[in-house]
Amino acid sequence: MEDLDTSLYLVIHLKPTRNMYSLKLLFSIYIFAFAKASVDDCTVTQVDEIAKLLEKCDDIQIGDLTVPATGPLPVFNLNGKNLTINGKLSFEPRYDDSQALLTITGRNFFVKNGPNGVIDGQGALYWDGKGILSDRRKPLLVNIDQAKKGHFQSLLIKNCPQTCAEVSRSNDIVISGLNVDVSDGDKDGLAVDTHGLSFVNSSAIDVKNIRIINQGACLLVKQGDSIKVFSVQCIGSEGAIIRPDWTYANHIGNISFEYVFLTRTQAGIRIQTSPHQPSGVIKDVTFLTTQVADTKFRGIDITQDYGDEGHPASNIKITNLNIKSVTGYMTDKYVRAVYINCGNGSCSDWHWSGVNIKKAQVENSCNYIPKGFDCW
Ligand SMILES: *[C@@H]1O[C@H](CO)[C@@H](O)[C@H](O)[C@H]1NC(C)=O
Ligand SMILES: *[C@@H]1O[C@H](CO)[C@@H](O)[C@H](O)[C@H]1NC(C)=O
Ligand SMILES: *[C@@H]1O[C@H](CO)[C@@H](O)[C@H](O)[C@H]1NC(C)=O
Ligand SMILES: *[C@@H]1O[C@H](CO)[C@@H](O)[C@H](O)[C@H]1NC(C)=O
Repeated sequence: MEDLDTSLYLVIHLKPTRNMYSLKLLFSIYIFAFAKASVDDCTVTQVDEIAKLLEKCDDIQIGDLTVPATGPLPVFNLNGKNLTINGKLSFEPRYDDSQALLTITGRNFFVKNGPNGVIDGQGALYWDGKGILSDRRKPLLVNIDQAKKGHFQSLLIKNCPQTCAEVSRSNDIVISGLNVDVSDGDKDGLAVDTHGLSFVNSSAIDVKNIRIINQGACLLVKQGDSIKVFSVQCIGSEGAIIRPDWTYANHIGNISFEYVFLTRTQAGIRIQTSPHQPSGVIKDVTFLTTQVADTKFRGIDITQDYGDEGHPASNIKITNLNIKSVTGYMTDKYVRAVYINCGNGSCSDWHWSGVNIKKAQVENSCNYIPKGFDCW
């Protein structure tokens, strides 16, 4: 940019001594030089340049970049800016979960994947088969935090240490074409608790056409409202989950999951609350068209005794839960299509239809009966 300013200055001052033709030529050469320079000048090659690039560029690129184990982690505050990931963005390991490896924040922005773009968390350097119970701290890979009016297109995220991507304290976010691939962690249950995409303290989130291959939750709603997920393929995870965070008062509302296809997952639809968390409410939740294949434990699994098995509590109310059309089949011994274990009086106003999960080996169990559903 500085180059361009200087050039124009020169051109203008030379103008009286040059004819039209050479002026034009000179001008176009400078424009070309500017266009070329701006791409290079706006490509992140070191983390500590990011703030400076954000000041001078509207369109920031990441090429191949390995973030060192020490020093600042990349934080992109993208006010009105675009970010394109064109190469492999990877991170030397940090056994510290106080900050996400990559943070994106700001208002009115657009983030997309370019050719060869991948965000690689190098999970193999962290995985130990113990997930969150390990002494080894494992950072979140991508945090969309305090963002508003942001669009994420076709990101490819691989091998996260723990959670792959979390949307926190954000609203008006669109995530389309996301591809999360933690299939390298399938071996020997190494990568347990690698959640795909989670949501906390966020609203007006629109997710569509995504695919997640992982070991923890495929989708995980911890807190938030007006979250709509449309067309998801989940492979090898725990399932599509609503599970409030344990530590604070919880409100989850207006959640809709449509066309969720789950293959080789623990559960299809799962809602879990703990007797040990503060009171709260989960309401106005819709699952519309869910297909399961080779489900390994429960098709629909709703329990209020998470972390205290056999003692469901009514601290969290689950109301207006609509489930329409759940089809497919289970695999393995001891698999059960539907399990409902509510606290006393805490479940109400559930409407279900078209639940037809085949090849279950154990009878359904329900201590609350949704309207329209015949448990036995
Ligand atoms: C950012 O990308 C969007 C969508 O491709 C485009 O419409 C917009 O003009 C871009 N903005 C900048 C600052 O490059
Ligand atoms: C979500 O909000 C609660 C309540 O304000 C707060 O305690 C918690 O730290 C927040 N979590 C995140 C990840 O923003
Ligand atoms: C529920 O969420 C949808 C987006 O999924 C939004 O369009 C709608 O306005 C929300 N409804 C309420 C009552 O908040
Ligand atoms: C459930 O709650 C009701 C009313 O609060 C009470 O009468 C009943 O005994 C409780 N049932 C159980 C199984 O605790």
